[in-house]
Amino acid sequence: MSKTITGFSKLDKEEKTTWLINNFLTDFPDSHSVLNQYLNPNKKLQQLHDEFIENSISNYYLPFAVAPNFTINNKAYVIPMVIEESSVVAAASLVAKFWSKRGGFKAEVLSTTKIGQVHFMYAGAYLNLETYFNSLKPTLLKATESITKNMRKRGGGILDIELRDKTSDLDHYYQLHVTFETKDSMGANFINSCLETIANTFRKDDVEIVMSILSNYIPDCLVKAEVSCDIDDLGENGMEFAKKFYQALQIAQVEPYRAVTHNKGIMNGIDAVVIATGNDFRAVEAGVHAYAAKSGKYKSLSQCTINDGVFKFWIEIPLALGTVGGLTNLHPLSKLSLNLLQNPSAKELMMIVAVAGLAQNFAALKALTTTGIQKGHMKMHLNNILNQLEATKDEKLMLVNSLNNQHITYNSVNKALQQLRVQ
Ligand code: MEV
Repeated sequence: MSKTITGFSKLDKEEKTTWLINNFLTDFPDSHSVLNQYLNPNKKLQQLHDEFIENSISNYYLPFAVAPNFTINNKAYVIPMVIEESSVVAAASLVAKFWSKRGGFKAEVLSTTKIGQVHFMYAGAYLNLETYFNSLKPTLLKATESITKNMRKRGGGILDIELRDKTSDLDHYYQLHVTFETKDSMGANFINSCLETIANTFRKDDVEIVMSILSNYIPDCLVKAEVSCDIDDLGENGMEFAKKFYQALQIAQVEPYRAVTHNKGIMNGIDAVVIATGNDFRAVEAGVHAYAAKSGKYKSLSQCTINDGVFKFWIEIPLALGTVGGLTNLHPLSKLSLNLLQNPSAKELMMIVAVAGLAQNFAALKALTTTGIQKGHMKMHLNNILNQLEATKDEKLMLVNSLNNQHITYNSVNKALQQLRVQ
């Protein structure tokens, strides 16, 4: 039987599923019902999801949760989060409450410039290229006018086009380095359309265009979020806690193995809000990690100081987010998320997302430097295992109490459940 197929995308959903079951899911007898149970009976909604991508055969659910009690720049927020990791939302909610009693989070957008590049090869004399570029620059801008018209009305558009000589890195390699302001949209389509038009206008016999694409590295689209309070307000043993917290941050500054995990914890919060609001989490991930390595060494994205009895903890990250366009208004739950956040501008969303990351980092470091991370994780993990084992509500209640503070594994929970059932 052939396991390759032509015209798969032309098959309807049922035909696709049948082909998969016959060829690749022969050892998974429930495939059909597993796939079908996640299809939405609301045909219009299902079609909307199917049309997001090619070859859709079902929907993949993730929990949609909320973390209440966030105060950011003196405004109250309930933050929507989409994530599968059990402890993330609980941690965000606890930290939100903790800091709302200590003045809340403060956040500010430092810059909003996005970047795109036309990469090209040119073997001639640099001076000739420079003269060509300078004489053509107004024409390049003019050529994009129909694309930038609406964006310009909203106060955005192309900020500048620069010719960059990259021949010291790669023979004959040059760029048109273009900067953009995309206001409330993430801007990927807008930027790429502008770049392709610029490239087509710039093209000539001795200029070989290689590609035109936005950059997900946006070190000039930055947001900062912070919390601070008197050490005494951190609770019992405030100074001891602050010192250990500071040490944990110093370690994440100097040790890349730790920094990656430290930043992963930050991304737990960031990605969850980015996904809930219909934004591109891969773009955010790529840009944020590149920023963490901007000095040439991968470092913590957050920092902390203890000065004159004041504990200050902050994060500075690049974020390309939109509150219009893309999936943001197309996916009903993204739309709802943005409404829940009181329809923020892209700048306000940058602040909310940065705060979610900082809150998550605070929760992780607090746990790591005090009780350890496993206590909280295991509590949530226990619940997942009990669900997997199809424990009843009463069984769950009894086992959550009896296994409290014990080391949790699938086997230990299964054993305890079986024991309970024979009692
Ligand atoms: C787990 O998802 C995230 C942590 O590992 C983050 C950290 O170590 O800082 C707990």
